[in-house]
Amino acid sequence: MSTTEQPRLAVLISGRGSNLQAFIDACASGALPAQISLVISNNPDVAGLQRAERAGIPTTCINHRNYDSREAFDAALVNELHAHDVDLVILAGFMRILTPVLIEPYLGRLLNIHPSLLPKYPGLNTHQRALDAGDNEAGATVHFVTPELDGGPPIVQARVPVQPGDSADSLAARVAEQEHIIYPLAARWFVEGRLLLSGHRATLDDTPLPPTGVQYSPE
Ligand code: GAR
Repeated sequence: MSTTEQPRLAVLISGRGSNLQAFIDACASGALPAQISLVISNNPDVAGLQRAERAGIPTTCINHRNYDSREAFDAALVNELHAHDVDLVILAGFMRILTPVLIEPYLGRLLNIHPSLLPKYPGLNTHQRALDAGDNEAGATVHFVTPELDGGPPIVQARVPVQPGDSADSLAARVAEQEHIIYPLAARWFVEGRLLLSGHRATLDDTPLPPTGVQYSPE
């Protein structure tokens, strides 16, 4: 990262882009000392692209349907990320499984947020699975991306209570509020040089994080 310029982020989305909005707001307020250089969506015409355009951020759609393989799609993503000289890649509701073609060149500079308390419920339908299991809490995890799906080292987790009568949607909304706090926070640690992927662990201020990451609680 250059010392004269703010770190350059790319945010990859597939849809609504509420986490993208949290990043736009955090960069604008100075809470996250970085600039979003690029937003990439794999789906055209999604709300997240409009959020980026409103904020004056360059956008591009790289539609996975136009590629013969996951690797070819990932190579197109890498080209775009290189062209924008990106320091940190933020997966924000990017609903594609990535291959080493993208993961290897950005290992340690590639973050994801997953809507569960990993290692519980990797994959899809996390909130319904938490309800079906009778869990009394749910949450979200920011983690480094490694080739193992939703299995990279956790950085920070936020927990919310499951309330009587919750649906998957009501629970998702409660979790999303926390996502919008912890994801820019993790990115801040990264751009400040405090957060590293070190082997199979995440470290913050040179201290290995616990296996489920920092447990966030509002102060
Ligand atoms: C978020 O809840 C995020 O945790 C989840 O998609 C949602 C995107 O919302 N990500 C995954 O499920 C990744 N497997 P957003 O588009 O409003 O940020």
